[in-house]
Order: sequence, then structure tokens, then C-alpha cells
Amino acid sequence: MEQRPALLMCPADFFSVRYVINPWMEGNVSRVSQTDALRQWRDLRDILEGLAEVRLIEPDPNLPDMVFTANAGVVLNGRVLPSRFAHGERRPEEPLFRDWFERHHFEVSMLPEDQQFEGAGDVLLDCGRARLWAGYGFRTSLEAHRTLADLLGVEAISLRLIDPRFYHLDTCLCPLEDGFLIHYSAAFDFPSQQRIRDLVPPDRLISIGESDAVEFACNAVNIGRKIVLHSASDGLKQRLADAGFEVITTPLNEFLKAGGAAKCLTLRLDESVDLAAAGFDPEGGVRQETVELEGHLLDGGILDRALDMTADCGGSFKVLDFELGRDHASRSRATIQVAAPAAEVMRELRGLLLSLGARFVDSADEDARLGRVETDGVAPEDFYGTTIYPTDVRVDGHWIRASHQRMDAVIVVDTDAKLPTAECHLLRDLKKGDCVVTGMAGIRTAVPEPESNRAKSGADAFAFMSAGVSSERRVEGAVEKIAWDMRRIHERSGRIVVVAGPVVVHTGGATHLARLVRAGYVQALLGGNAIAVHDIEQAIMGTSLGVDCLRGLPVRGGHRHHLRVINLIRCHGGIAAAVQAGAINSGILYECVRAGVPYSLAGSIRDDGPLPDTETDMNRAQNEYARLIEGADMILMLSSMLHSIGTGNMTPAGVKLVCVDINPAVVTKLADRGSLESTGIVTDVGLFLDRLSRQLVSDGIESRRAGGKNADSFL
Ligand SMILES: NC(=O)c1ccc[n+]([C@@H]2O[C@H](COP(=O)([O-])OP(=O)(O)OC[C@H]3O[C@@H](n4cnc5c(N)ncnc54)[C@H](O)[C@@H]3O)[C@@H](O)[C@H]2O)c1
Repeated sequence: MEQRPALLMCPADFFSVRYVINPWMEGNVSRVSQTDALRQWRDLRDILEGLAEVRLIEPDPNLPDMVFTANAGVVLNGRVLPSRFAHGERRPEEPLFRDWFERHHFEVSMLPEDQQFEGAGDVLLDCGRARLWAGYGFRTSLEAHRTLADLLGVEAISLRLIDPRFYHLDTCLCPLEDGFLIHYSAAFDFPSQQRIRDLVPPDRLISIGESDAVEFACNAVNIGRKIVLHSASDGLKQRLADAGFEVITTPLNEFLKAGGAAKCLTLRLDESVDLAAAGFDPEGGVRQETVELEGHLLDGGILDRALDMTADCGGSFKVLDFELGRDHASRSRATIQVAAPAAEVMRELRGLLLSLGARFVDSADEDARLGRVETDGVAPEDFYGTTIYPTDVRVDGHWIRASHQRMDAVIVVDTDAKLPTAECHLLRDLKKGDCVVTGMAGIRTAVPEPESNRAKSGADAFAFMSAGVSSERRVEGAVEKIAWDMRRIHERSGRIVVVAGPVVVHTGGATHLARLVRAGYVQALLGGNAIAVHDIEQAIMGTSLGVDCLRGLPVRGGHRHHLRVINLIRCHGGIAAAVQAGAINSGILYECVRAGVPYSLAGSIRDDGPLPDTETDMNRAQNEYARLIEGADMILMLSSMLHSIGTGNMTPAGVKLVCVDINPAVVTKLADRGSLESTGIVTDVGLFLDRLSRQLVSDGIESRRAGGKNADSFL
């Protein structure tokens, strides 16, 4: 005779809501009707006794939640893993359940004390797939998934719960016979939703809406083709009927007040999987790594960011060791164990932590893995994408620094050279046969100290506003400090690159920027077609986009001015030629040509004309930008989102970035790209340039240092 399924239940004699440990309990303390609860529990037991053998554990008068036996532990193949409750209120249940399991001859294995685990509330066997679905986020820790998969010999698919109402997995997911699965997807984060969709074919996946979910339709007991639950809408009942299931509803609303229903009130004792057929992959599921961080971990915000990154990826962390630097100048050290729900998440997390300078203890002595490029311009699938930070790769046991650092590149290693070299290349520049760094092993990044720390340690007395965004009232002070930096760069013949949009001209900033070029404060100018067109329009016709720059009023026919300007420059063959011919006598581009300051104008789909100087081949334009920012000490990004972001993407760490824009979102985006040396200023760019040029250029005392060629040789 076939053995009947077995369930563990605990009589509801002492059930009540006495404390609040989930949102359902809020407002329900002492509001349970004991009579109704007892009747509802008995009705459920009677139904289940028709389907299974129901075994009982004696209730405890001090433990009102003991009625929810699903949280006693998880049982598979006769082995039980008892729970380790997250909340102190439920921990006294642990020895009582463990004792019951031992007395009933289950093989008991304990999880480590520091791992939270709430039994079959968070771990559900999917018989059809020979897998466990494992929830985390509220009651069960991610590390426990790894342990229980190892102990039970079955792979656990980790799902992150994000809605506190669905604090246990069995409140929002229920595997059924024949590979069917009911779930409420909004209770999970997006990657977990994706994991469910990857494993459960659409014709087996029964997604429910919020109205069914809050009635605990997922908290169902499935035995064979029968499903016992508190309540389900007609639509859900029909879908389950179509899938061949009979739904039996029994009111359990008194238990809903504590956040539980049919499934929570039961624990399956007889479930089993064929471990050989389950094909357990010990490398699958949760991944763990030990990571070391060193530097100004607290005041530089590095520790915060590392922990946030881990949590944002759906991972979890445990700080194993933390040694706080004794004063501002000394460094702190942290050893952290991070866990990720799956290998691909750990890979992403490793990349993020690398950008904070993290060292991965387990793979610290590994060489970088290299893959061959098979097709020009196409990297091996697992290629490592670079950040803005100086990066070393380990080749034959030696660390070598990659040259031409920039973000979103790949690292090409030349092992044929006597001394191996590493260089950042764009995807499009890869050649068949190139050796590219893949994976995450053998890579380390050197994250520079935040400016504020160097300032504190006396190295840079004027560092300020690391990655901050200033508001209007702080502009004056910010300009003073930027001017101070620019003067120092100027004095040591450093390089300042300006990225500018046409708003510079519209806001009256062109004259000021032109003065800065003339005074030698600009070593390269980057922009698009428009900055040049409008600057020259102003120089020649006194208007910018047809608006009289002095009176601020539109000029009749002015909307055609820029076309006339474009035509004129095209007629001369280019801006430099027009300057030489005397067709342009002032403005930013005029000063650049005179001073030999190189400029690059990158084309865009919006461009009129364009000017002959505008580079419409985007690869060439990017290469030219990259060439001009090489060796830059500072980049001033003035009111051009497009060109500023383009420039930011190719700038390595260590270059001071100053971003000026009227839109805080643009400033934040640019100032917050991971560089510790960026300053954002939310203000009108015309006003900014006016103040900056006043700080730097006194009339009549203008330096003639310029970018390259002798200016006068042009004229
Ligand atoms: N006629 C033309 O050929 C023409 C005209 C316009 C733009 N374009 C081209 O389109 C592309 C994008 O142009 P873009 O860089 O001007 O646009 P963009 O949208 O990339 O950037 C403009 C930025 O200026 C900011 N801004 C607006 N008013 C400001 C103020 N008073 N002070 C400070 N910041 C202010 C905005 O917030 C925005 O971030 C460029 O390649 C440009 O050359 C061509």
C-alpha cells in the first residue's frame, strides 16, 4: 500500500497575536478570536486528514506562533534541518521542534548558529525539478541557502523577497505537482523574477495578482491534485482547474492576522528526491567570497559603498574584521565575507567591488585569465570591462599596470614581448589574435584617495567638495577654488581641457571663455558643431541663434544667421582658414586658432551644415577627443550633456573634473561617476565663466601661454 503523505501540525490552543514581527500583526495584537481560530484550525486539520496523515506536536502556552509548524525546519529524505529563527520571540520554539524531530527518529543536522533560517517558510521543494526554491531578504540569510543545499544535496535557487508583507517564501510562491508553480511576482526583486521565469515554462507558471496574494492564495497545501487554501478568486480557481487541480478553500482569517494561512500551519515530513537524479552541482547556487578593503574606508565612504553595492546586487555581507585607522592620515582595513545568490551575480559584484580597490582573498594569487580574439572587434564573451581607475593585471606571477586607462575598454596583454605589457583597447580596435583579460581573477585596481583625505593629511590644502554638487550660493566660493587650482596647473604648464556646449554662447559666456583661452588657461577645446557655429555667429553678426547678444532681443531674419555663418566657413574651407583670411576677428574659436589651442568638434544628428571642421565619423571623433584629453590635469565641462558624458567616459581617474550645468541631474550624473575628484556646480554657465575669468584674468595682464603651435604663425 502506498504510504500517505505526512504533515506536522500544532494545535491552535495558545495561538494569538502577542507581538509584532511582520506587517500583518500590526494592529492585531490581542485581536484574535480564540474560538474562531480553534474552529478554523480544526476544519483545516479535518480536511488534511482526508488527504494525509496528520501528526501533532504539543503546543506551548508561551509560544503563540508555534502553531505555524512550517517554520519548524525543513525535512527532506528523512533528514531535518531545524530552524534558527530571526526574531527572539520565536527562538524558544527551536528546542521544542528539535526535540520532537529527534524523538520521531529524524536525522537532525544543524545550521551554524550565525545563519538565520526559518524552515519550510523559506525553503520549498519543487519535486518536478528536484530543486529547492529558497527565499531570503527578511527571515532567512543567503548564506543559509548554501549550507542547506550542501547538507541536503539538492540545488537551492535563491529568490530575494522585497515586500515585507510577503516575508516568507511560502507567502508568495507555491510549487505544485507536475512542475506547476503559483507565484506573486511583485514580492520578488527583478533578478529573482527572472530566475523563476528561466526555470518554469510559461504554461506551468501561474502568476497571481495582489488581491489573491494578500488573501494568501500562495500559502497553499498541495497534495496530489488537491490544493487546500484560505481563499482564491474565481479566476485563479479556474486557472488551477484548467491545470487539473481541485481547490478546497477553508477560512483561516484568524491566522491571517498573524501573517499565516494553510501552508504555514503545516510541515511536510515525508518529501524526498532522488539525489542521484537531482544532479547536485556544488558550484551552483549561492557563491561566497572573502574580500579585503583598505584605505579611508569610513570618511572616504568606501565601506558604505561596498556594502550598498553588495545589497543592491541582491547579495549579503558579513564584516569579519575591521581595523579602524587611528587618525585622519592612517588607513582602515576591513575583511568582509560577501555572498551572492548566483554565479553571474557574484561576477557582477566582483566587478563593482574591484572598482573600489577590493582584493579577493581566495583568488589573490591567481594570474589573470586570457582569451584570444577570434574576430576583429569582438572580445571573448567573458571579457573584463575596465573602470576609470588604474588597473593592474597579474601575468606569470607579476603585476603589470595597464596603459591608456579609461572606462569601458578591454585589457589586451602582449605576452610575446620580452616583458609582458597590458593596454586598454576599445572593442572596435581589437584584432584577431589579441590576448584579452577575461573573468575577474588576477585583476586589481588602485582607487585614489579622496581629495578630502589628502587635504586632511596635508597633501592638498585646497581640495574641496569631493563628488559634491554646489548650489547657487556656493558658486562664488567654488569658483575661487577652481581658479586657484587652474592657476596652479597653469604655473606648472599643466593641461586644462574645456568641453563646451552652445549655451556658453547663448548665456554670454563666450567672451569670458575667449579671455581664458587668450590667457593660456585652455590647452584643448572639445565640443560639437553648435558651439563653433554660435560662437562664430556672435563674432561676425553679434547674434547667437538669431538673438542680439547685447540687447537680448531676436533680430529680424536672425534665425538664418547660423546658416549664413556655416556657409561662410564652408566657403573658406574651415575655421582656421576663415580666421587667417580675417573673416573672424573675435570669439572662442578665433582665440583657439590664434593661440594654437587644438580643438575637436564632434558631429551629431542635430547638426546644421556641418562646419568643415566638424568630424562626422564618430570613431574618428572619439579618437580625437581621447588624444586631446591625454595628460589632462583638469577638464572643465560646461553645459553640454552630450559631449561632457562622452568625455567623462574616456577620462581615467586622477583628472580633476569640474562640471557646470543648470540641471542638477546632469551635474550629479557627471560628478558621481565614481571619480573622487569631481566637482559639480549647478549654475548658469555664463555667470560661472564671468566669475572665473574675473578671478583668473586681470585686464592687460594676460599670459600668452597656449596649447601647442606658436599662435602668431597662423596669422
Ligand atoms: N545648429 C546646430 O548645429 C546645433 C544646435 C544645437 C545643438 N547641436 C548639437 O547637438 C549636440 C548636443 O548639443 P548640446 O551639447 O548643446 O546639448 P545637450 O543637451 O547635450 O547639453 C546642453 C546642456 O546645457 C545645459 N544648460 C542649459 N541652459 C544652461 C545654462 N543657462 N547654464 C548652464 N547649463 C545650461 C542643459 O541642462 C544641458 O545639460 C551637440 O553635438 C551640438 O553641437 C547642433
